[in-house]
Amino acid sequence: MLNASFTVDPSFRVGEVDPRLYGSFVEHMGRCVYTGIYEPGHPSADADGFRQDTAELVRELGVPLVRYPGGNFVSGYNWEDGIGPRDLRPSRLDLAWRSVETNQVGVQEFMTWAKSVGVEPMMAVNLGTRGIDAARDLVEFCNVRGGTAWSDKRGGDPYGIKLWCLGNEMDGPWQIGHKTAEEYARLANETAKAMRQVDPTIELVACGSSHLNMPTFGSWENTVLTEAYDAVDYVSMHAYYQQHGDDRDSFLACAAGMDRFIDAVVSTADHVRAVGRHKKKINISFDEWNVWYQSRFAGEKNLDIEQTPRLIEDVYSVTDAVVVGNLLISLLRHADRVKIACLAQLVNVIAPIMTEPGGAAWRQASFHPIALTARFGRGTVLRVEPRSPVHETAEQGEVPLLDAVAVQGPSGLVVFAVNRSQTSPLTLDVDLRAFTDLSSAKHTALADDDPDAINTIGAPDRVTPHRREDPKLDGGRLQAVLPPLSWNMIQLS
Ligand code: AHR
Repeated sequence: MLNASFTVDPSFRVGEVDPRLYGSFVEHMGRCVYTGIYEPGHPSADADGFRQDTAELVRELGVPLVRYPGGNFVSGYNWEDGIGPRDLRPSRLDLAWRSVETNQVGVQEFMTWAKSVGVEPMMAVNLGTRGIDAARDLVEFCNVRGGTAWSDKRGGDPYGIKLWCLGNEMDGPWQIGHKTAEEYARLANETAKAMRQVDPTIELVACGSSHLNMPTFGSWENTVLTEAYDAVDYVSMHAYYQQHGDDRDSFLACAAGMDRFIDAVVSTADHVRAVGRHKKKINISFDEWNVWYQSRFAGEKNLDIEQTPRLIEDVYSVTDAVVVGNLLISLLRHADRVKIACLAQLVNVIAPIMTEPGGAAWRQASFHPIALTARFGRGTVLRVEPRSPVHETAEQGEVPLLDAVAVQGPSGLVVFAVNRSQTSPLTLDVDLRAFTDLSSAKHTALADDDPDAINTIGAPDRVTPHRREDPKLDGGRLQAVLPPLSWNMIQLS
């Protein structure tokens, strides 16, 4: 048996959890929109064509924010194609995913859906093939009360969309309209200024690097923020993780890589702040993150042109779900600077929710740690410094077998913890002497005898969290046993 311990103290504050940390992402890609959230004719569809079985699961997942409409898709998108009478909307060739985009869902339909499921929209503008004009027109369409050409086309109350992304992954050569850091920095700065002239209350996200291993990582953020520091509020981060070969230990440790990535971007933003003598801090919008088996995807260049193709519909195992839970621990640990995060994506496309056209909707294994963290990880994050056994991994170097964070919320204290050992349970000892009024502890774990177990349409509840034996809580000390390869939530009240 392994042993690990840490102390939780209310004075070790990291910061408040911004609920936007639990956001997600709907891209016009594969079956995320069509047959995912929208399927007129589906038995559960409402009068607007939105699947209510999916909507129910989105509410249960607890995401408060959804980024839209892409992703790579946005860099070739004309938002005007998706407004007005549906029978007049053009079908376009989407080059990002070599798909036929029918434009039956556009910004108006998305806003109807967002309102009905209770999520805040985060809108991305096209800085690939388009620029200042299309972006400022879209802000006018969405946020101006009326009396102008674009706002009058909307009808009804303004949407008041607060959060806007200045393009998507503009550092990536795969992006339509890919730019150098200097080209993007100028365009982002000028577009941001024009968008704010339309609506001064909006918040803006500049593109950071598409991932940590981009050759321009670091210098990209430096150039973009040096140019656009005053015009933007956040810099974006994107990261996808997967198991390579049979190296499960490295995969289970990838949250350590996410920690390093966040620390590096925060340092770069703070360096630009110091050099430019800026007062405000630029925070992080981690607006794409997840497990994605990119090695199983042959790449968009090899796709036949199709309408609503099945693209990157990864099926997540218990192991993947434990990693997703651990990545959320990393995001929480950085709650002082990571204010927005979007799990990519929401439905069917590398998603916690799966649907069949005309059929059922169900929860993937990864749904569970996300839903539980989004529900109970609210309040103030408290830093913990575990004493834990360590092991060596090929990709992440030496890592502790225990990773954990604590959140003090309105209904008590919650500890989220992962045991990265594939073989051994771990006894966790927590010093809680600073909390004098705790009397009950409840332990929920996601673990399985088969680390490859998955949920399917036929067995949608094969992987679910289970209540464990109540941990011992005695004299200000908590003792719990974390199963091998597990994600855990211990609720203390
Ligand atoms: O989420 C899938 C794709 O991953 C997005 O379109 C893109 O932004 C990223 O590379």
